[in-house]
Amino acid sequence: MSKALEGVRILDMTHVQSGPTCTQLLAWFGADVIKVERPGVGDATRGQLRDIPDVDSLYFTMLNHNKRSVTLNPKTETGKAIFAKLIEECDVMVENFAPGAIDRMGFPWEKIQEINPRMIYASVKGFGPGPYEDCKVYENVAQCTGGSASTTGEIGRFPMVTGSQIGDSGTGLNLALGIVTALYHREKSGRGQRVTCAMQDGVLNLCRVKLRDQQRLAHGPLKEYPQYPNGEFGEAVPRAGNASGGGQPGWIVKCKGWETDPDAYIYVITQAAAFTGLAKAMGREEWLDEDHEWSTPEGRLPHLDQVFNEIEKWTMTRNKFEVMEILNPLNVPCGPILSMKELAEEPSLRATGTVVEVDHPERGKYLTVGNPIKLSASPSEVDRSPLLGEHTDEILIDVCGMSAEEIEAAKADGAV
Ligand code: COA
Repeated sequence: MSKALEGVRILDMTHVQSGPTCTQLLAWFGADVIKVERPGVGDATRGQLRDIPDVDSLYFTMLNHNKRSVTLNPKTETGKAIFAKLIEECDVMVENFAPGAIDRMGFPWEKIQEINPRMIYASVKGFGPGPYEDCKVYENVAQCTGGSASTTGEIGRFPMVTGSQIGDSGTGLNLALGIVTALYHREKSGRGQRVTCAMQDGVLNLCRVKLRDQQRLAHGPLKEYPQYPNGEFGEAVPRAGNASGGGQPGWIVKCKGWETDPDAYIYVITQAAAFTGLAKAMGREEWLDEDHEWSTPEGRLPHLDQVFNEIEKWTMTRNKFEVMEILNPLNVPCGPILSMKELAEEPSLRATGTVVEVDHPERGKYLTVGNPIKLSASPSEVDRSPLLGEHTDEILIDVCGMSAEEIEAAKADGAV
């Protein structure tokens, strides 16, 4: 079966996480991703958070599957000529350096277009145009400046970042979509274009329900928030603990074993249409009596803390999987808190390729997260990440058309 992006060649100038997640996705779909790394140094993540001495870290390997690695310094004269040739031969260039870094290498967008008018040039930056456009940004900075930290955390306590890398991997997803959209547009227009994604924008996009609530706040208290009816609302959307962001109230409740297992919890949504089944399953038919104040969704809203306290008394008598088995057939949406250990061991995730075991020549076998997007006609296979400069010679010969002597000379002057 052919791959969806077969024939698309990507000049991958990305590092750390946001850019590499984007190009890894494109590689999984079959693009030829040529990762350019500084000679002798490489992507900084190769050496960060290492678990095995002198071996590429999991941080690096889990973000750079299915790519080829070429070492190249575009700041040298020979390096500039090779880089220009790569721009000529590639369809897409992706980078997520600090603002201005590619310009400082001597390759502003105008020059890239001059070399290859069909080039799609895609960048991740921390911020879009405005007061912070020149700032360097990492994940948690994006979470804090994009609205996520302000709206995440316990009620009345400090702002909190989440374990999901919504600024980095989230923005990488946006960039990948921008690139394939620009490729589609190029089919019709014959020209490339600039694709830019700001991490702040990406996080805010994922926090849209909180901007919704910010505007609802002007018209009265947010009744599904735990601050209602006894707490206070200020001028901005408050942190709401584990309250659901949708129209159906939800909360995390303890299950059997919570005293010793930090993940013995389940999220339960008291969906209005399924409340009858939920009450019956718990043996609390009295909640359904017409004159009981919890019998309607509106009646339950001011008492959600008590409702979930009662639900918890029941969930604490069963483990999280038993609770799910009882509630799912009743159409009560619920989700056990699954630990990374449980996810790593889950057979169905292995079967779908969402969790994949990969073999690496230096580290041996390790687990990674595979492609979360499944295409029926061109499924993804996950191949190991490249060693630093593993494909330098073959890329310089096949893509740049260089001779063995020219490559030796380029190595001698530190260009590759
Ligand atoms: N050969 C020679 N030099 C190279 C090179 C190569 N192959 N690849 C990169 N470099 C140089 C760059 O030219 C730049 O040098 P300059 O500043 O002198 O022009 C430098 O290496 C790397 O730059 P920078 O991006 O500033 O790295 P950093 O480690 O200081 O900052 C980030 C890292 C992530 C904070 C920054 O890149 C950034 O803000 N990126 C945009 C937002 C982003 O993607 N953040 C999330 C990362 S997960």
